[in-house]
Amino acid sequence: MRLEGKTALVTGGSRGLGRTMSLALAKEGATVIVNYLHNQEGANKVVEEIEAQGGTAFSIQADITKEESVARLIREMNHLSGSDVDILVNNATGPQPELSIEQSTWEDYENQLTFFVKAPLLLLKEVLPVMKEKGQGSIINIGSEVVQTGNAFFANYVTAKSAMLGMTRSWASELGPYGIRVNLVNPGFTPVERHQDVSAEAIEEYRKQVPLQRMGKPEDIASAVVYLASEESSFVTGQSISINGGHTFSI
Ligand SMILES: NC(=O)c1ccc[n+]([C@@H]2O[C@H](COP(=O)([O-])OP(=O)(O)OC[C@H]3O[C@@H](n4cnc5c(N)ncnc54)[C@H](OP(=O)(O)O)[C@@H]3O)[C@@H](O)[C@H]2O)c1
Repeated sequence: MRLEGKTALVTGGSRGLGRTMSLALAKEGATVIVNYLHNQEGANKVVEEIEAQGGTAFSIQADITKEESVARLIREMNHLSGSDVDILVNNATGPQPELSIEQSTWEDYENQLTFFVKAPLLLLKEVLPVMKEKGQGSIINIGSEVVQTGNAFFANYVTAKSAMLGMTRSWASELGPYGIRVNLVNPGFTPVERHQDVSAEAIEEYRKQVPLQRMGKPEDIASAVVYLASEESSFVTGQSISINGGHTFSI
């Protein structure tokens, strides 16, 4: 049990990669806060699964893009779990529209920056005082390999994920002296519920470009998150780790 006594907050833990991260962190002994926006049933199911495997978890609804709801999320979390956040996983994502430059508005870019820059900042500011006091903490930002691949018609998302890279490094420099580590995990294309409509041909096309010749699984991403949350990575900060079978080698 690598995370016994720790509390982890996973934004967007009700489905997709966040669901598997929540289960994996709990399996290592962490108390997990499963945050969600609308999918209460999904979040409660994750909590039930964690309890069934002997762990402790709570689901909390909160829109992480809004300052007041982030403050309430942390208050409710303190109240329900009786503890503070040791591990913050900035995972949640909203819709990811593919748009040409002509179709794009500044608002489309701003929406992505809101998820991947504003929300992590609001969350960090809420949990930072206690992390500094304790002299420890692990912030795990979930990026994407698109920073490396620069996918066409996706600049809103690619721009915001790129911002996460610099933000991670700058936070790591500033917070290292307080014993707080900040890292970025970059998944490759890892099919989850929302990819049900992606054609088998498109998946096969991607798979063929992956040196390890298979698609990523949510468990692959969750393993990296557990590693970065645990003491095993106590000398790792400011890093950008691609979990994509070698589809890109580094960012
Ligand atoms: N899957 C991939 O192929 C892939 C590849 C590269 C990077 N990533 C990154 O990995 C992360 C997870 O992706 P995913 O594919 O697992 O996403 P997903 O399945 O679409 O899940 C998104 C999660 O975010 C939550 N959410 C949405 N808006 C929210 C808000 N305003 N406040 C709080 N929670 C909110 C959703 O809650 P509800 O269920 O309540 O709506 C859901 O739990 C994202 O940062 C994504 O960019 C994923």
